Amino acid sequence: MTDSEAISNGRHGRPHAPRGAGIELVDLHYSVKGRKILSGLQLSIPHGKITAVMGPSGTGKTTLLRLMTGQVHPDRGRVLVENQNLAGLSARDLYRVRRHMGFLFQQSALFSDLTVFENVAFALREHTDLPEALVRIIVLTKLHAVGLRGAGDLLPGELSGGMARRVALARAIVLDPSILFCDEPFVGLDPISCGVVLRLLKVLNEALGMSIVVVSHDVHEAQALAHNNLIVIDGRVAAYGTPRELRDHPAAGVQQFLHGSADGPVPYHYPATDYYQQLVGRDIRLAIGFPRSTSKRG
Ligand SMILES: Nc1ncnc2c1ncn2[C@@H]1O[C@H](COP(=O)(O)OP(=O)(O)OP(=O)(O)O)[C@@H](O)[C@H]1O
Ligand SMILES: [Mg+2]
Repeated sequence: MTDSEAISNGRHGRPHAPRGAGIELVDLHYSVKGRKILSGLQLSIPHGKITAVMGPSGTGKTTLLRLMTGQVHPDRGRVLVENQNLAGLSARDLYRVRRHMGFLFQQSALFSDLTVFENVAFALREHTDLPEALVRIIVLTKLHAVGLRGAGDLLPGELSGGMARRVALARAIVLDPSILFCDEPFVGLDPISCGVVLRLLKVLNEALGMSIVVVSHDVHEAQALAHNNLIVIDGRVAAYGTPRELRDHPAAGVQQFLHGSADGPVPYHYPATDYYQQLVGRDIRLAIGFPRSTSKRG
């Protein structure tokens, strides 16, 4: 059996994703609790490709995945998945669209009281009427693909962080989605597991035509994996292109991010009030008795 046959649900390498327009992000604006996260983000993510989303921590990468999967909707602008505006869909139609999406969340989010096997089987039981024997075979092939076929009886609490990531990936691909969204799939993985997951994502893309959007902090892994890289800074697309195009990108912020330098236009700190003012602010002044009270007591 080839890799692709082993990890697809018997579709034998034929692309099953609808051929189409991919994902269009049109002038996306999104705020949380009055704080602007995305401000006019604009991008076309092609169908059938691997797209890596990178950017500083807190820049809105996970938020962007949540918008692309219809978990939240933009304040302004549109998210079009295969030409369908997610915000305009009924709950039922959105559910249908999301049925073709796989998600690997940043926190693996496994059901803590279900075994590894049952976690992976969950979506199959929820969305299909497949007989138990087939469910078992599909789950075993997915677990085998991530190297955890032997861990089916363990509970999530008995897994290491890296094992939990791999179970979450097996769960994300169990329905052979057309589009797979992975939020930090390499976090906590040792180099061997990392290589296995990289290869798995490539096989899913090349053999099954699966579109993959992967958020990664690891610039080298992302560039090794993706056809296109997106760098989000300040709620906008700072750069988008092939790894080579990004290497030669003129923007200082893009180069700062790619080289991991502390100095540059991209701030490291979460927005805060003035440091000095906060340090010597009201509480400290009170603690050291400054300024001395001029009021006369008793
Ligand atoms: N539910 C929420 N309530 C309040 N603020 C939120 C919420 N979700 C996200 N944010 C804020 O939105 C911003 C973007 O968060 P997001 O999780 O998308 O960042 P990220 O780019 O994925 O970061 P990281 O690389 O650390 O995972 C952050 O400043 C975060 O504090
Ligand atoms: Mg995130």
